[in-house]
Amino acid sequence: MKSASSPQNDPLSFNRRLSIAPMLDWTDRHCRYFHRQLSADALLYTEMVTTGAILYGKGDYLAFNELEQPVALQLGGSDPEDLAKAAKIGAERGYSEINLNVGCPSDRVQKGRFGAVLMTEPELVAQCVDAMKQVVDVPVTVKHRIGVDEQDSYQFVRDFVGTVNHAGCDVFIVHARKAWLQGLSPKENREIPPLDYPRVYQLKQDFPACHISINGGIMTLAQAREQLQHLDGVMIGRAAYQNPYLLAEAGELMFDREGGETIGRADVVEAMLPYIEQQIAQGARLNNIVRHMLGLYQAVPGARAWRRYLSENGRGDDKGVEVLQQAMALVYD
Ligand SMILES: Cc1cc2nc3c(=O)[nH]c(=O)nc-3n(C[C@H](O)[C@H](O)[C@H](O)COP(=O)(O)O)c2cc1C
Repeated sequence: MKSASSPQNDPLSFNRRLSIAPMLDWTDRHCRYFHRQLSADALLYTEMVTTGAILYGKGDYLAFNELEQPVALQLGGSDPEDLAKAAKIGAERGYSEINLNVGCPSDRVQKGRFGAVLMTEPELVAQCVDAMKQVVDVPVTVKHRIGVDEQDSYQFVRDFVGTVNHAGCDVFIVHARKAWLQGLSPKENREIPPLDYPRVYQLKQDFPACHISINGGIMTLAQAREQLQHLDGVMIGRAAYQNPYLLAEAGELMFDREGGETIGRADVVEAMLPYIEQQIAQGARLNNIVRHMLGLYQAVPGARAWRRYLSENGRGDDKGVEVLQQAMALVYD
């Protein structure tokens, strides 16, 4: 079985040229394990986890597999003390980076006064960053938008980055569109406000010592690579989830690894089988895992049959890896 070149397990030596965006309900631990089979190098992000869930929740929201590394924990919150406590727990659990969400526009998040609305309070974000940096050794980073509501001038985002940088954050991931806090759903807020890549390039010009990754609307690795002409890194969200096989060429296209053989889709499925068996033995359901794999064969003959077979047969307590093996027989790869 081929593997997606050697895994990078040293959490502090990872490269941020390509990352997979934090996506609630999507980038859970099973999804990340699957993405790691496709790319040894991409930096993976958790879904946003609120400080409340970490500090007062009943479940364990931080469990992950060491083989997913490097993985960044994305936190949602705005209380410096709570964020520091949650960041410390995250770092102790082994996450390679702590990221603060300053981009989510949902109502629920606004009520908690965190997410994108925090862009209007750069001093508070700076305090949050400072509090987290005092208690963890791993990088503390911020993911944000280029503006919120009417506050969408270049000066606004430049001052935000300047203030937060002054507090010691030197890695920014910028979703290159603003957020409308009233009237648009989170989904619309990922589609309607126009993308403005030059604004992010300008940030890099003004903060050359900062590591700046761009996010929003990047569909292919060719487009991602082109962005590296202007910026340090690229974060891909929906395209990587819906068409995960695009990650398979990341070693060569984004990390300049030469000579590595691109892993085949069937090899990826094979690599998932022992993991799935182990997870099922620990109480997971097949569908919790295979739901993230539905797009693996996108654009390959049989893709629809693969997707349908898994969707129809993956549910139920008694389902195991045989469902995947049967689905593989339906594709011509
Ligand atoms: C289903 C879904 C859930 C998301 N959840 C989060 C989240 O938890 N934290 C966050 O910072 N952004 C979240 N986002 C936004 C993405 O991280 C990303 O910024 C956005 O999708 C734009 O990138 P893309 O065009 O490459 O998808 C989410 C996006 C989607 C589609």
